[in-house]
Amino acid sequence: MSLDHKQEYIPFNDYEAFAQAYAKRTESNSYNAYYERPAMFSVLPDVKFKRVLDAGCAGGVYSEWLVNHSADVVAIDISNQMVQLTKQRLKNRGQVYQADLSKPLTFLKDNSFDIVLSSLTLHYLKDWEGVLKEFHRILLPGGLLLFSTHHPFMDFLFFEKDDYFATELLDDSWEGYGDTPVRVRFYRRPLSAMTSALTNAGFAIEQILEPRPTEECKQLYPQDYEKLSTKPWFLIIHAQKKSQS
Ligand SMILES: C[S@@+](CC[C@H](N)C(=O)[O-])C[C@H]1O[C@@H](n2cnc3c(N)ncnc32)[C@H](O)[C@@H]1O
Repeated sequence: MSLDHKQEYIPFNDYEAFAQAYAKRTESNSYNAYYERPAMFSVLPDVKFKRVLDAGCAGGVYSEWLVNHSADVVAIDISNQMVQLTKQRLKNRGQVYQADLSKPLTFLKDNSFDIVLSSLTLHYLKDWEGVLKEFHRILLPGGLLLFSTHHPFMDFLFFEKDDYFATELLDDSWEGYGDTPVRVRFYRRPLSAMTSALTNAGFAIEQILEPRPTEECKQLYPQDYEKLSTKPWFLIIHAQKKSQS
C-alpha cells in the first residue's frame, strides 16, 4: 500500500486489539528482550532521579525498568489497553496517560524532561516533524532523545519496495499474538528522512546503532539469532537537544 498524501492522516490504534498478548510476549521474546532492549540500555545513561518520558509505552516494560532504576517516569500510549496494562505494572510508581504522539503534548511542560525514550513507536507516525518538535520542547537543554525504529533498509527489502527514498505506508500481518494474525500498519522512510527530521527539530545526533542480538538470544532463540546477526531489523538513534532550534 502506498501513502496518499492527500488523504487525511488518521493515527492507527492497531495494538488495541492485541495489547495483552503483545505485552506478555515482549517481556521475554528474542526481538525485544534479547536484541532491542539490551541495545537501548547500552546507550542509556544513569536514569536515577531523572525525569523520563516513555513515549509509546505499550505494556510498560521500559517504564517498569525505569522506575526500578529510580527514574521519575511519565508513560504515554495511544492505546487505552496499553495504558491500563502499564498502570497495572507500575502500581502508582509513575504517571500514565493515554495520548496521541501525532498531536501536541499540551499536558507536558516545556523544558521538563531529562530523557525522552521511545521504543519502536515512531514508525507508526506519518509525520515526524510535529512529534520531534514536541520532544524538543519538553526536553531540558542538552536533554536526551533515545529511540528505536524499524531499520529502513530492512523494511525496504522485506516489503520489496521500488523506491528506497519514498516515505510510505506499509500494511503487515503478524502471527503469534493469538489464534488469528493481527494487522499492523506503519510507515517506512529512508535514513536521510529520519536524520533531517531530527536536525530540523533541533537535535544533534550523537550515535546511530545497528543492534546485534545478545549471547542469551543465541542460547534461547538460535534461529532468530542467526537472522538478527545477519539482517538489520531495528535502528537506534541517540540524539541531544541543542539549546536553540
Ligand atoms: C511496538 S509497541 C512499543 C513497544 C514498547 N515501547 C516496549 O517494547 O515496551 C508500539 C506502541 O506504540 C503505540 N502507538 C502507536 N501509535 C501511537 C501514537 N500515535 N501515539 C502514541 N502511541 C502510539 C502503540 O499503541 C504501541 O503500544
